[in-house]
Amino acid sequence: MQKVTIKKIVKKKGNQPITCLTAYSKPVAEILDKYCDIILVGDSLGMVLYGMKTTKEVKFDTMILHGKAVKKSTKRSLVVFDMPYNTYKNKHEAYKNTKKVLNLTNCDAVKLEGGKKISHIIKHLTKNRIPVMGHVGLLPQYSNSFKLKGKNAFQRKQIFEDAKTVSYAGAFAIVIECVVEDLAKKITDNISIPTIGIGASKYCDGQVLVIDDMIGLSNFSPKFVKRYSNVKKIIEKSVKNYCKDVKKRKFPSFHNVYKS
Ligand code: KIV
Repeated sequence: MQKVTIKKIVKKKGNQPITCLTAYSKPVAEILDKYCDIILVGDSLGMVLYGMKTTKEVKFDTMILHGKAVKKSTKRSLVVFDMPYNTYKNKHEAYKNTKKVLNLTNCDAVKLEGGKKISHIIKHLTKNRIPVMGHVGLLPQYSNSFKLKGKNAFQRKQIFEDAKTVSYAGAFAIVIECVVEDLAKKITDNISIPTIGIGASKYCDGQVLVIDDMIGLSNFSPKFVKRYSNVKKIIEKSVKNYCKDVKKRKFPSFHNVYKS
C-alpha cells in the first residue's frame, strides 16, 4: 500500500488517467481508498446527504465532520477537502480556514472554486504550503442553475484564462466542471497541471463523479453521469423485505436471538 501523494498525481498528467470520486462517510471512503487516486470530500454533500437546494447552504463545521470521517477511514488515496462557500473571501480568511481544515481533519489538500478572481488567494495559500486544487467552468457555489459552460467565445476565453491563472497560482490540479469537450481539451493541452473533468470529456487528465450519482443513490442523472449500479433499488428491495418479515414475524428468526 503506497500513499498517493500530490507529486504522484502531478506526474500522472499525460501518462495515466487520474481516478477521483466523492466520499462523505467512513464506509464509502473505505471502499474508494482501494481504487481511487483522489477522494474528494465535496460540498455536494449539501444536496446529496442533507437535501439542501445549493452548496451555498453547507456549513464549515459540517464539512469538518465529514472531512474527519473520510480521512480517518483512508490510508492510500489523496483526500481533498472542498472549502465551503464564504470560507475563502480574502487571502487571510482563506489561510486561517484552510489551515484549520488541515489541522482538524488531517486532509491532504483543499479545493477552491473560481478562476482569475481568486488566483491571488490561491497564490497566497500555495506560497504558505497549503496544497490547493482549483475548480473552473461551472461553479456550483456561484451558480443557481446547472448549465453547460463554454458555448460562446466570451465564456471560452474566460474559462481558459481562469484555468491558466489557477495553474500559475500554484494549484497542483484543477477540476473542470461541465464545459464543452474541445475547451476541456484545449485547457488540458495548455496547462502543466492535471485536469480532472466532471462533464468535461475524456480529454481531461482524470475524471471525478459524485458517488451517489454514479451508484444510483441520488435522483440526479445528467448526461455526463454514467450509472454503474442502482443502489437505491437494492436498498428499497431490502427495506421492503425487512418490513414484510417483521409483519409476518419471520424476523427475528432463531438465528437472530440470544438464548439464556
Ligand atoms: O462538491 C463536489 O462534489 C464537487 C465535484 C462535483 C467536483 O465539487
